[in-house]
Amino acid sequence: MDKKLFGLLIALMTLALLGIIFVQWYWISNSYQSKESQFVTTVRQVLLDTADEIELREAEKYFEMYNDLLREAENPENVTFSELIYRIGNGKSNDAHIFSDGILEEDFKLSSSFLDTDVDSILFKRITNKKVKTKILKDIDAGSNRVEKTESFSRLKPYERAQFEDAFSNISAKIPIHRRVTANDISTIINDELTLRGIESKFQFAIYSNDLGTKVRTQRFDLDPETTFRVSLFDNKDLNIGYQLYVNFYEQEREVFGSLIGMTILSLLFTTVIFVAFYSALSQLFKQRQISQIKNDFINNMTHEFKTPIATINLALDALKNPKVKASDEFTGKYLKMIRDENHRMHEQVENVLRISKLDKNELDLPKERYDLHDIIEDSISHIELIVDDRGGYINSHLGALKTNVLVNESHITNVIVNILDNAVKYSEDEPKIDIYTENIKNYVVLKIRDQGMGMSKAALKKIFEKFYRVPTGDIHNVKGHGLGLSYVKRILDDHDAQVSVESDQGKGSTFIIKLHLIS
Ligand SMILES: Nc1ncnc2c1ncn2[C@@H]1O[C@H](COP(=O)(O)OP(=O)(O)OP(=O)(O)O)[C@@H](O)[C@H]1O
Ligand SMILES: [Mg+2]
Repeated sequence: MDKKLFGLLIALMTLALLGIIFVQWYWISNSYQSKESQFVTTVRQVLLDTADEIELREAEKYFEMYNDLLREAENPENVTFSELIYRIGNGKSNDAHIFSDGILEEDFKLSSSFLDTDVDSILFKRITNKKVKTKILKDIDAGSNRVEKTESFSRLKPYERAQFEDAFSNISAKIPIHRRVTANDISTIINDELTLRGIESKFQFAIYSNDLGTKVRTQRFDLDPETTFRVSLFDNKDLNIGYQLYVNFYEQEREVFGSLIGMTILSLLFTTVIFVAFYSALSQLFKQRQISQIKNDFINNMTHEFKTPIATINLALDALKNPKVKASDEFTGKYLKMIRDENHRMHEQVENVLRISKLDKNELDLPKERYDLHDIIEDSISHIELIVDDRGGYINSHLGALKTNVLVNESHITNVIVNILDNAVKYSEDEPKIDIYTENIKNYVVLKIRDQGMGMSKAALKKIFEKFYRVPTGDIHNVKGHGLGLSYVKRILDDHDAQVSVESDQGKGSTFIIKLHLIS
């Protein structure tokens, strides 16, 4: 795939993914906020209703008490009664409904002795609301009318309450708060109001009077101006007495989040799935790219390794044409063997190419076996010998190492040494003079391949292991190459956990040093 397009695709996908995550986050935090403000509104309403209910209950309590007293009281000071009667007839059945809605206002003077107040008597207006529904049914057989009456009493009506409270509030305001309402009552009322609105949050509350706590409170209430809700209770403007009911809701977060949790988890889950899928798709893609890169490199390298065998075979064939060689069985045999060996080596390279084309991991994972490094060196020399001879040079080995057992892939390590030797020949202007040394240092066997060729500059030294790097050849135009040999050397030695370094003096020659781990 085009590198730019690939980058663009990844950028777009990453952007989209981040966008999705952002939108999800935005959506969740938005709904959290709106749920939160909804919770606050509901809770405020709960408190208003609670305060109202507490006040209504008190009013009703005293209303009942007064009513009982009134029943025994002497005649009212003043009585007004107004009644509204209306009739609805039913044409078909001849039934008639008569509704009466009457307001009876009686003004009483009451002794307030049953209250702990310093007021002698209270002028109290009794208002009774009585609804009467009369249903008159025509009796079919007797022709007479049957009458059904239903009377209904409801809770204190707003106007009754207003009237009553007006008369009563100045008295009740003087009663200590803990006798007006108990913590239990408040608890029940708030609970009822909360349940009505589907909220389950736990709460603690306290009644304060002008910033001072009263006895009416729950044990663990803590006033926190940030989170505590507040509502006024028993407000009496005339006497300037008032209370505040403070309530803390402890599970506000849970309550608010509770309704969002399902969606949040789902959206987190799906986002994670997308993320994981995206990540694994990308890493798979990268891995594939890497593998195909490795394959490409390797196939290039292996093809590169055909060059020396072909050159050697060519030389051997040329030699065989020589009448002197033809005459000698020994020489003929030697060259034929060389051709067969090189052929065998090419066959191995082909195997390598085929093996690498099956590669499905991003490691080469070359199979390794125990070998004597000296054997491999001898073998490598045999592959290049003819070329060196052809150029009139020599390869001398000084194999001084005593311990030489290494764990290597024979064919690849042979290629590595052949590559270095090949360079030593190629980059010697005169006859190639090559010396090979081995020695043991600590747990390593160190192999040095020294030539007396053209050498390299310090700057070039840093780059020669890079793929396709070639030192600009200057005046030597006949040296051909692709800059692949040493990158292959590096790759293979890395795979063997071995080190390679170069020392070089321009014009004097170069030494390639390879450090391999010894095995016992
Ligand atoms: N022994 C050496 N003496 C001097 N220069 C060397 C020697 N070995 C390598 N070089 C320099 O390092 C460069 C990289 O070598 P490498 O083997 O990777 O590529 P190449 O020989 O140019 O081409 P290829 O090996 O692919 O045919 C060479 O072009 C050469 O300039
Ligand atoms: Mg080379």
